[in-house]
Amino acid sequence: MSADSWIEPLHQENRHFAPTAEFSKNAIAQPAIYEQAKADRLGFWADQANQLHWHKPFTQTLDWTNPPFARWFHDGEINISYNCLDRHVEAGNGDRVALFFEGEPGDNREITYAELTDEVKRAANVLIGLGVKPGDRVAIYMPMIPEAIVAMQAVARIGAVHSVIFGGFSAESLHTRIEDAQATLVITADGGYRKGRASALKPAVDMALDGGKCPSVKNVLVVKRTGQEVGWVEGRDIDWGTALASASNDHAAQGFNAEHPLFILYTSGTTGKPKGILHTTGGYLTQVAYTHKNVFDLHADTDVYWCTADIGWITGHSYVAYGPLANGASQVIYEGTPETPDWGRWWSIVQKYGVSILYTAPTAIRSFMKLGSQIPKEYDLSSIRVLGSVGEPINPEAWMWYRNIIGGGHAPIVDTWWQTETGAIMISPLPGITTLKPGSAQIALPGIEMKILDDGGNVLGREEPGLLTITEPWPSMLRGIWGDPDRYKETYWSKFKNIYFAGDGAKFDEEGNVWLLGRVDDVMNVSGHRLSTAEIESALVSHPYVAEAAVVGAKDETTGQAVVAFVILRRNQLENAGSDADVSKILRDHVTKEIGPIARPRTIMVVSELPKTRSGKIMRRLLRDVAEDRPVGDVTTLADTSVMDIISGKIAGGASD
Ligand code: PRX
Repeated sequence: MSADSWIEPLHQENRHFAPTAEFSKNAIAQPAIYEQAKADRLGFWADQANQLHWHKPFTQTLDWTNPPFARWFHDGEINISYNCLDRHVEAGNGDRVALFFEGEPGDNREITYAELTDEVKRAANVLIGLGVKPGDRVAIYMPMIPEAIVAMQAVARIGAVHSVIFGGFSAESLHTRIEDAQATLVITADGGYRKGRASALKPAVDMALDGGKCPSVKNVLVVKRTGQEVGWVEGRDIDWGTALASASNDHAAQGFNAEHPLFILYTSGTTGKPKGILHTTGGYLTQVAYTHKNVFDLHADTDVYWCTADIGWITGHSYVAYGPLANGASQVIYEGTPETPDWGRWWSIVQKYGVSILYTAPTAIRSFMKLGSQIPKEYDLSSIRVLGSVGEPINPEAWMWYRNIIGGGHAPIVDTWWQTETGAIMISPLPGITTLKPGSAQIALPGIEMKILDDGGNVLGREEPGLLTITEPWPSMLRGIWGDPDRYKETYWSKFKNIYFAGDGAKFDEEGNVWLLGRVDDVMNVSGHRLSTAEIESALVSHPYVAEAAVVGAKDETTGQAVVAFVILRRNQLENAGSDADVSKILRDHVTKEIGPIARPRTIMVVSELPKTRSGKIMRRLLRDVAEDRPVGDVTTLADTSVMDIISGKIAGGASD
């Protein structure tokens, strides 16, 4: 097949790509793995857990006597940082590179397992010196630099709980998350390099804590990355470099109960308030290490692995900060954006470090694809042998391009379905076993039980779209929503009794492969990032111009979905507001300030009415029709059926941004 032939055949859903005999022969996961897991699911998970080092071995695999509150390996004790670091040094692999760091300006560092262990021990001693105790929450707001991983590992090492907040979130979002978790320490940096310039982070921390707004926070540890000037609160702010330099590198990792909390990660739900998803230690590391090794076919002594996710997302937790380190992998981390200094940057990194496993998101693949094959073809990508995809469905065209242009026409693609809540990959091919079908996430991994159900809980047959559910507990499952056990039960476990409802639509095809059909709730997926319609609506109505707002996710060629907002302005503000274009700019800036640039609406449409049912519920389905430029669907349940004519007429008149 010629390299560009992906453009031609459009309906590739039924094409099959079997692994080569050579790949299969050397693959980590062999076909028997499915039978082993089927024959004794819990025994299978116990075997996976026993690949880790336990300070105190567990005797019971799962306690599910009080669903939906699971306990895995709960009489065992483990230290996650010991498993990711000390263990490899003690096994004689201290000289192996753990991190190949590539800074955006072109600076780089190679950090071995021995060096990383040393650094994490120093950081752990600094945290202890600041009074951080097991169970205390530590907020981390950092660029993608090695210190971010050191910080996470050090917090985990001493049994504290990290809450990483993505650097693209605003001071306001940071504030809410610090407050909700009652963090006692914030670890941040002066800034990081993005898009060719130093981008500040510390000012957002200062704003979030300003005037004692977060009284729980006692100290702020600041990594100097860019050297830009930053405000400094004496007695509160501490320089990371100075503190680590004078700290001891002697720290013995202690075992914590397998169910000891490891981290909170906030994600968007269907309400305006983000959910603090709670993960614990032993089960999380078990499934993260198992999936990282088997799904990516990791051969730790020869592979160079690169996951492009930021540590601010679950992918950056499970497949940057923990999974690869637990497996003793050598991994690349890159600080900046793919287009800096030009769109060849990623491929130059692959070439430079000989990356053999690349894990990224469809939105990135589509952006590269739009620019054509010429740019990647200028680089030697022959080291690549496995490609991964995550975050949203990958359309078959992008799949083919990824395989042909980046994967040399032969690399298997593992399309991995999972969520912040699931903690680790749940549905995915295994690259040495599965015959791949472009666009499908294929089948549940060994050890995972899933079903597709209709609204009434009936199991659906092939080609019948329904709701994706997980029918048995799994080790890396969320253990709750921070501070809100009722919301945990209600959101995930109330639709079907003791069955996890993922919020995604899905179907099996005639061969039994799973196709993900998108969210069935009011959660959007923009560039593989989760955003809540309600959260953006509440940001919009917090602006004095806005009386009412409705947000929808409209299809977007590059980002999967894009945020489109419909707003009704307050009557008494109409004069101040200016033209629709002015209003649009002001409100988009406002959302950026309230939540962060990722939530910035692509389009704001000023309207005089919103479509509502008789009970007052906004019918987003109709707004999505308008945003996606389709004929408007059934309007009979609207309280006022003429509303859609008014909106459509206004939009046709060109009021979009
Ligand atoms: O809708 C699914 C989609 O992303 C959601 C989870 O988002 P988040 O918690 O931010 O985690 C993203 C990274 C794991 C899911 O409910 N999603 C994730 N992976 C896929 C996917 N949709 C289709 N195919 C995937 N491979």
